[in-house]
This record gives sequence, structure tokens and C-alpha cells, in this order.
Amino acid sequence: MSDQRFSVFAPGKTILFGEHFVVRGGQALAVPVSELGTTGKVSPAAELSFCCAADVAFVKRAFFTVCEAIGMAPPAIELDLETTLPIGAGLGSSASLAVALAEIALRLAERRPSEEEINQLAYRLEQLAHGAPSGVDNTVIAYRQPIVFKSRKEIRSLNLSAPLQLLIADTGVQASTAAVVAGVAQRATANSAWFADLLGQADALVDQAALALENAELERLGRLLNANHRLLVELGVSSSELDRLVEAALAAGAKGAKMTGAGAGGCMIALVDSEAGRSVGAALKAAGAVRLWSTQVDAVDPRGAQR
Ligand code: MEV
Repeated sequence: MSDQRFSVFAPGKTILFGEHFVVRGGQALAVPVSELGTTGKVSPAAELSFCCAADVAFVKRAFFTVCEAIGMAPPAIELDLETTLPIGAGLGSSASLAVALAEIALRLAERRPSEEEINQLAYRLEQLAHGAPSGVDNTVIAYRQPIVFKSRKEIRSLNLSAPLQLLIADTGVQASTAAVVAGVAQRATANSAWFADLLGQADALVDQAALALENAELERLGRLLNANHRLLVELGVSSSELDRLVEAALAAGAKGAKMTGAGAGGCMIALVDSEAGRSVGAALKAAGAVRLWSTQVDAVDPRGAQR
């Protein structure tokens, strides 16, 4: 029986730019959402047992997968998992669970895992959940800092020069990432010139947004978010509920707004300042948001990416 007792926390994430395009060769800009996340508590037990509100069968399968990947026999522990993230809503619930499980397994194997070790292992779980994910979600969560992600080998950390204040609103409509990604694949294959044009525009937005964040140009960042939302509408991954929330946020004074994550439901984000925050929040609720969160992404993480 293991005598280890510890807890881990993995945050959520939001993609500011480039979702979907990043699956097909583009880049994405993502930030952690530290106000929401997955908490995993490990305590000694006579045998392995799981206590979680999420899909226990998936959690078990995922935990056995990480144990096997690191060559560890499943330990005798009680694993208690809780999440404050909405499921299937674009805020990284599965990647957050993956990062938490990866860290737990590596710590139980008595390793002091690096962020990259956790990230690599978490990616395997994301494959289990979504097939062929880009890896942006587990990476931003494992590193807990804003990143520009091009591929699993091309990632750079982003130094924000001003904190970002975001409102996140949930349409309450759950969507399957794998299904939405498959729909994009079909449309991209059927009309490759159309998709290449959108991808070029999306990639340019990521470059401009990275500069805007590094230079604290928040008005500009807002306009870029709006442009990214329009591209996602054209890609066919937004929804009437998301569009309604985006319009409501802009009309109430948000600097910019867009859907985030896989789309077809789930969440949208609005860039606000302290003045507009309250009125934008009220407008989002009036326009149908079932849940609303406020998150601040802090300027400059001194750790920097280790790559
Ligand atoms: C989902 O959070 C982001 C997508 O781009 C999928 C992926 O990157 O694997 C839609």
C-alpha cells in the first residue's frame, strides 16, 4: 500500500486565437484559466479506488494508460478527482484532467516530473479522448502560461506586458470536440483553397495578437479577437448561441469577443476592462449565458518556457 498523500491542481485554458486552424498546420495562442480547474487528491488505501463526479470508466482507463506508459503497476491509493470546469465547453476539461492524472502518476512513481514530462504524458490521454488533438490544450495547461503553439515541437511562451481581463460565458450547449474537428476536416478537404485562405488569415492574426499582447495594445487585441471570431463563423464552427453572446458583449462595451475552443456550443470570451466588466457581464446573462466567469491572465511569468 502506498503511503503517499498529496494533491495536485491543473487549471483550465482558453484559446484566444487559432483554434481548429492549429489542428491543420496553423498556430494558436492560448492562455491558462487559473480560476477553474481539476483537483486531484491522492490518499493511501487498501486497493486502487476512484472517487469522481466525471465519467469514472474514462478516468480509470486514463489512469491505467498513464501507469502503463511509465511502467508503474497501478498503485493502492484512493484517487479523488473534482473539477470546476464545465465539460465539453471549450475550457479544456479533458486536458486539465489529463494533466492532473499525468502529474499524479509521475509523482506516485516517485519522480519529480518536469512540466514537459507531464505534458508528454497528458498528450497521450488527450489522444485517448479526442483522437488526434493538436496538443495545444495540454501544453498550455501543463506549462500554466500564455503560449503560441505551432506544433508539439514549436511552442513559445508569451510575455504579456499588461494583465488581461476576460469574461468567459457558457452557452450551456455541450459539444464533442472530435465531432466538430471532424466536420472541419471534411469541409477543408472538400474545399482546400477556401480553407487555405482562412488558415492564412488566422495565422496572421496570431502573429499580430502576440505583438499586441507583448506591447499591451489591448484595443488592437480586441479587434483581432473579433476578426478571429468572424473566421470561425466562416469555418462553420460557431453557433447562433455563441454569436448572440459575442454580439451582446460587444454592444455592452467589450473590447473584443469570440467563441473559444471547439465551438458548436460551449464558451465564448470577452476582453474587458474594469469599467466595462460589470455591464458586459450583465449583457451576457441577458443574452442567455448559463454561467459566467471572470479570469485575469497575469503579465510576465518569470519561469519562462523551458525550451
Ligand atoms: C480544442 O480546445 C481546440 C481545437 O483546436 C482542437 C485541437 O487543437 O486539438 C478545436
